[in-house]
Amino acid sequence: MMKTDVIVIGAGAAGLFCAAAAGKRGRSALVLEHADKVGKKILISGGGRCNFTNVDTSPENFLSANPSFHKSALARYTPSDFIALVAKHGVSYHEKKLGQLFCDDNARQIVNLLLSECAEAGVRVCVNCEVRSVRKAELFTVETSQGTFESSSLVIATGGLSIPKIGATDFGYRIARQFGLRIVQPKPALVPLTLNANDQRVFGELSGVSVEAVVSCGPAQFRENILITHKGLSGPAILQISSYWNEGEAVTLDLLPQLSAPDLLREKHQEGIALGTLLGYHLPQRFARAWADLYPPVKPMKQYSVKELETIAQSLHHWQLHPNGTEGFAKAEVTRGGVDTDELSSKTMEAKKAPGLYLIGEVVDVTGWLGGYNFQWAWASGFAAGQYA
Ligand code: FDA
Repeated sequence: MMKTDVIVIGAGAAGLFCAAAAGKRGRSALVLEHADKVGKKILISGGGRCNFTNVDTSPENFLSANPSFHKSALARYTPSDFIALVAKHGVSYHEKKLGQLFCDDNARQIVNLLLSECAEAGVRVCVNCEVRSVRKAELFTVETSQGTFESSSLVIATGGLSIPKIGATDFGYRIARQFGLRIVQPKPALVPLTLNANDQRVFGELSGVSVEAVVSCGPAQFRENILITHKGLSGPAILQISSYWNEGEAVTLDLLPQLSAPDLLREKHQEGIALGTLLGYHLPQRFARAWADLYPPVKPMKQYSVKELETIAQSLHHWQLHPNGTEGFAKAEVTRGGVDTDELSSKTMEAKKAPGLYLIGEVVDVTGWLGGYNFQWAWASGFAAGQYA
């Protein structure tokens, strides 16, 4: 039986960062990872370049049943703190757009940074380590395929359910339940949306076409590209809105956010140009034609009535689609929902009902937007727990 101060389960972004922080306080820390490698999700993140933070991070960029919970940890470990660490390790980076910072070379540099921080802090990392059970008496006892370990603190950093094929499990939720903690139902987020066969028939031919739009669902709104896929819709604006979308709801697209559709259609009302051709000056042509076909019969602008053009203009700014689902955890970048933040201290990430048990990263009901926010949450929540575990 090996004794250590802190056991961290999950060698991803939050777990490795937390273990290094605890190690730097002089705590002995052991990280247990069931996969054959650490940080697999980091390696595939940001298209292989890891969008490791966002310089504009603020609490509004996150979803949670308690929109205040994450403020404390985010304020105590900021994007500037992580940028300083990246600089210390000589990793060069660039801002792609909207405050999103990516490695110039590849995501392996972030995994190496984390492993080097862990080594410097004397942290042990075990891979291929299957956790079989967790018990708590005075200490935590963790039985694994590589022996039994004891610790005074146990940190759960096993992430969410997205991308099971690289090691995602529901382990964190099971442990939370074992200790009586509530779970907000986990759902796929930052995920492509699927359309029913009817809508799909209209756009089936357009797979790969991308359109800049304002996409909204309830109060949430994003202006970025949407991408038509062979199953429905994807692209940054759709991924963002998917985190807010619930089954049965519509998403609304403003296809011409840069201009007034009523003015445009009124100005061209007396012309012989077809609607699809006119829209093709402002939208990708193939998309414009397919969209105009939704208002048959196809005819020159001057043959539409004022009423018809008003309806079309309204639809260009408020085009409602009713997704019938998402592409699920296999394609989701993150999981929304998770361990209910009411169960945790926002200062330490410790479970109120289970002293010594900490939960960090994506397993917790805090979900960032697309754009480096989820890693910033992993660093910030890992750092917070690392000061106390
Ligand atoms: P993470 O998933 O990183 O780590 C959990 C670890 O626990 C894994 O190593 C897993 O194998 C291990 N584990 C699970 N069950 C276990 C068990 N039973 N026993 C032991 N170990 C177990 N975010 C961002 O900010 N910028 C970006 O560029 C991207 N890009 C991106 C691309 C893709 C394709 C995906 C899927 C996700 C992203 N993300 C992202 C999201 C980001 O990767 C994610 O939010 C963080 O990795 C979450 O960090 P965690 O440490 O909480 O979980």
